[in-house]
Amino acid sequence: METKFELTERNYRYLFENASDAMWVQDMKGNIVDVNKACEKLTGFTPQELIGKNVREFVSGEFLDLAREVRRKLLSAEEITQPYEQRLVRKDGTIGTMKMATSLVIIDGEPRGFQHVARDVTEERQLQENMRFYVQQITKAQEDERKRIARELHDDVSPSLLLAIQRLDTITSDSRPRLSKSLNEKLEGLRSQITGALENLHRYAQDLRPRVLDDLGLIAALEWMTEELAKKQEIDAHVEITGIERTLPPEVQLLLFRIAQEALTNTRRHAEASMAVVKLEFESNKVRMLVSDNGKGFELPSRAENLASTGKLGILGMYERARIAGGTLDIKSELGKGTQVVVELSLPG
Ligand SMILES: Nc1ncnc2c1ncn2[C@@H]1O[C@H](COP(=O)(O)OP(=O)(O)OP(=O)(O)O)[C@@H](O)[C@H]1O
Ligand SMILES: [Mg+2]
Repeated sequence: METKFELTERNYRYLFENASDAMWVQDMKGNIVDVNKACEKLTGFTPQELIGKNVREFVSGEFLDLAREVRRKLLSAEEITQPYEQRLVRKDGTIGTMKMATSLVIIDGEPRGFQHVARDVTEERQLQENMRFYVQQITKAQEDERKRIARELHDDVSPSLLLAIQRLDTITSDSRPRLSKSLNEKLEGLRSQITGALENLHRYAQDLRPRVLDDLGLIAALEWMTEELAKKQEIDAHVEITGIERTLPPEVQLLLFRIAQEALTNTRRHAEASMAVVKLEFESNKVRMLVSDNGKGFELPSRAENLASTGKLGILGMYERARIAGGTLDIKSELGKGTQVVVELSLPG
């Protein structure tokens, strides 16, 4: 036999009091009328101190506007996203971040106040921010390092190899009549070995930091990249531009370049594609880049973070770079059809 299970008001009161999330009720003027124990942990004030206080004492500036906006929307039955993030000033003056949900208290058909459930996410947000800062610094350090190594290869190692080739040429042309055939062949071999090394070195330097990006800008650099792909991998690749072209800030150029580089490297390594396109779309206040291939496609993990544990950092890096720049990145891939990476950034003015 089923027993009817109904919670009494005392049961509810117990749940309210002992919930690990902070809960409070305020009247229409913002005066706190009821709080649970967890509010003390959140604010630093005891429940006795909290009752009667006005919630305005806990929020300031833009966060006061947010609180007003939430109240207005609830009263006019407009939709709001819940939970939302709000900041509060604690008793000791520190600022906390909470994730909260708010609803109207209706008594006898009339709105009489608001009730809130809030979870302290200060530490979580702090950790996230630290992590973001860390990733940002690493990305920057990595770029600086790449630039430095590329410059040294260009300015230092490359000229000395060139010089070695010139010296060899002088030896062979000055003393050719006196050199035996076999020594001549050896010197020829040496020359082509050095020439090969020089070519490799240019390629490495270009991969590290293409001069074309610094000298001629993003579009030329993207074209260089697709030409390389076409030449070396026989993938029909090209760049398309739409909208009114404008010069992007150097950091945006570098970001788009790096994302295209990773996306095309993935096309080359994994996609088995015959075609790739890099589209750059300029709009008045944003720029969008789409890198697409017609390859075999793949199944994206539900969370990009899961890729990290398998040592795959390319896609994760693309997401991170886009996020650091305040943009969005989206990957669409369909088995048998191909893959598309879309990155969008808003531009000032
Ligand atoms: N364009 C693509 N076509 C098909 N599969 C792809 C494509 N891009 C990515 N993948 C798949 O997604 C996986 C993750 O890509 P990701 O770039 O993160 O790592 P990776 O390329 O394997 O290694 P790396 O860290 O060197 O980039 C790849 O191993 C591949 O299986
Ligand atoms: Mg990759």
